[in-house]
Amino acid sequence: MGDGRLRIAHVVGARPNFVKIAPLLDAYRGSASIDPLLVHTGQHYDAVMSGRFFRDLGIPDPDVNLAVGPGSHAQQTAAIMTAFELTALERRPDAVLVVGDVNSTVACGLVAAKLGIPLVHVEAGLRSRDRAMPEEINRVVTDAISDLLFCTEQAGVDNLAREGIDGDRMFLVGNLMVDALMRHRDRWEASPILGRLGLAPGRYAVLTLHRPSNVDDRAVLAGLLDAVERIQKEMPVVLPVHPRLRGALARFGLKGRLAALPGLRATEPLGYLDCLKLIASAAVCLTDSGGVQEETTALGVPCLTLRENTERPVTVDAGTNRVVGRDPGRVVAAFRDAASRPRVPSGRAPRFWDGKTAGRIAAVLGAKLPVAGDAGRRRELA
Ligand code: UD1
Repeated sequence: MGDGRLRIAHVVGARPNFVKIAPLLDAYRGSASIDPLLVHTGQHYDAVMSGRFFRDLGIPDPDVNLAVGPGSHAQQTAAIMTAFELTALERRPDAVLVVGDVNSTVACGLVAAKLGIPLVHVEAGLRSRDRAMPEEINRVVTDAISDLLFCTEQAGVDNLAREGIDGDRMFLVGNLMVDALMRHRDRWEASPILGRLGLAPGRYAVLTLHRPSNVDDRAVLAGLLDAVERIQKEMPVVLPVHPRLRGALARFGLKGRLAALPGLRATEPLGYLDCLKLIASAAVCLTDSGGVQEETTALGVPCLTLRENTERPVTVDAGTNRVVGRDPGRVVAAFRDAASRPRVPSGRAPRFWDGKTAGRIAAVLGAKLPVAGDAGRRRELA
């Protein structure tokens, strides 16, 4: 741009994206080399799924809101692509930066790559090797078309190397979610959520469920509710209900089953600060979320992953996370085991999960962009 700084369009769409972009925008404040443009696709749009995260994390209002809203995968991805192409043509960023693995990530990545705009992917290289997960498709495609790739863990680097990505385009930098967690620690520790829900620290479990493979299949969801029914007899369980789960419970006629469990506290989706406080003070978390697997590792809280695989193996290596699947008997047995063990002592944090990831990324961007060869590759923008 005119002032010589690199104008980098930063894309956010869904809840976990907000958490990752916040520390990065903070790191650029006063930067002489980077001028960020914030684009919200509108994939998540509710006050509870979006607005409150912007407030909790101090993210500035987006410069552009594409306001695409919900839809099937094809509808949502296509709507984001169409709208983002116009933004990219109008604003002419020097690079586009996408985070994570949601539909907004791959949609804006494709637009950038096809316009010849250098593409940066943060949280690159994670692989569940489960192509039934929409996120796995998004990861594989985004990484294949990215110019600079930032990895949260060594497994990401190894996966990319196996897929033929040059070593000089990928960087192990750690985890932006851990930056956010550390930066806002005083604020989330002060959250009054435990009192509000009548919970004692270390004496309750947190449950989150939103993966299509868990909530969109009636038999699987009913099996998980069987497990929850048994667990809540032993320890209170807090369940912040994601809109996808809310929809599935209504569709499958399972709302009444949840309401009948006296030890289960179902809440609205929580904001960032309340959610971290709840996780940090839990005896155990049961989840199918990628972010919760990472946050529990950073906090040393036992986590049971209700999936058949994880793309984040470092969380298992760290000793906090166990991938237990969805079989009700196995889930209950794993819960009993986790709840009876002492917490994993701190000090086993994965490499670079130290709160300084945003600074590392900013430094590489300043040094590496524009990517060598862009001039030839970049097509005429209309
Ligand atoms: C998306 C991501 C997933 C991520 C999750 C975090 C994809 C393919 N999936 O899943 O990787 O872990 O976000 O939450 O990108 N809805 C609302 N209000 C909102 C947003 C959504 O009510 O603010 C409802 C919509 O009606 C929609 C449903 O929730 O039908 C699911 O939303 P969607 O963005 O399609 O996928 P998620 O399940 O949230």
